[in-house]
Amino acid sequence: MEDTIKRPQFGNRLLENVDEVFKHNAWDNVQWDANQEKAAAEKVERNSEVTFSEDHLKDLEENADKHWDAFYNIHQNRFFKDRHWLFTEFPELAPDYTAAPVRVFPDSESSQLSTINVKNEEKENQHVKNSKRFIFEIGCGVGNTIFPILQYSQDPSLFIYGCDFSSKAIEIMKQNELYDTKRCEVFVLDATSNDWQVPFSENSLDIIVLIFVLSAIEPSKMINVIQHIHKYLRPGGLVVFRDYGRYDLAQLRFKKGRCISDNFYARGDKTMVYFFTQEEISKLFINAGFIEEQNLIDRRLQVNRGKMLTMYRVWIQAKYRKPL
Ligand SMILES: C[S@@+](CC[C@H](N)C(=O)[O-])C[C@H]1O[C@@H](n2cnc3c(N)ncnc32)[C@H](O)[C@@H]1O
Repeated sequence: MEDTIKRPQFGNRLLENVDEVFKHNAWDNVQWDANQEKAAAEKVERNSEVTFSEDHLKDLEENADKHWDAFYNIHQNRFFKDRHWLFTEFPELAPDYTAAPVRVFPDSESSQLSTINVKNEEKENQHVKNSKRFIFEIGCGVGNTIFPILQYSQDPSLFIYGCDFSSKAIEIMKQNELYDTKRCEVFVLDATSNDWQVPFSENSLDIIVLIFVLSAIEPSKMINVIQHIHKYLRPGGLVVFRDYGRYDLAQLRFKKGRCISDNFYARGDKTMVYFFTQEEISKLFINAGFIEEQNLIDRRLQVNRGKMLTMYRVWIQAKYRKPL
């Protein structure tokens, strides 16, 4: 408890006076008024006309892994930044690392959520003390989540698996000097496939990580991925999820002609992206048999003070537990 008080907090910089917007680089939990919501809905309506040909759509879907290979061929491991916020949002990933800022939730649900979380952390800690701990990241890319966990956690009983359907990403990750086969193993897997070939058994994983990956998957295939996740998590195991929310800046920026289906788009490099609502995420996981522990919308206002620009980001963050 004392430790919590001393640690810096994150999530509580609130913009109370709009005249102060350019005083900081970012503001938390920004409220949208009805006009802003309406303007966003209109932008999406305008960019949602589907103009791709059948052949083009087939290529996007059937060669999705090749398009990500091409992405990693160009960007190597320079595109995604290491996700050091991970330990603020998901302290479960490295319970022994206690220096990360503590997340505070401004809304009233927070106290309820933290009670659930404290109880589950106690259960988790009990489990951690007793055995080896397995984390599996789906869509691990070049390791921007796995490497920080390996760096920040010194837990000798931790082992991390990761998969990606881009063989290029896996190749780049394995060449990284931080790739330590005693502590992790990554492999090529298309998470939408019906028959997962994986080096672990059903009901065995403690945590499955989904960070900006479900959004890259065609909506009709998402349920299959969630069902597999349920199968491989141990009873009591946890999914941690963070991804794009509806009306995020990235959605509003799409020009007409990039829409595949409602709220699902192809970028110029042919990688695909979906923008979720909280309800859609709830439905996907609860229908697959999970218990919801967290499902929040993280609305951040990022500010470019040099160019006097404001950028409204929307992310969905959630945690789901497989019942004991
Ligand atoms: C936006 S990137 C995020 C990468 C990483 N999770 C991170 O946060 O840095 C999405 C990743 O998901 C992978 N991906 C997309 N669809 C996939 C699928 N069906 N199976 C496995 N990986 C997939 C892509 O290759 C890409 O590496």
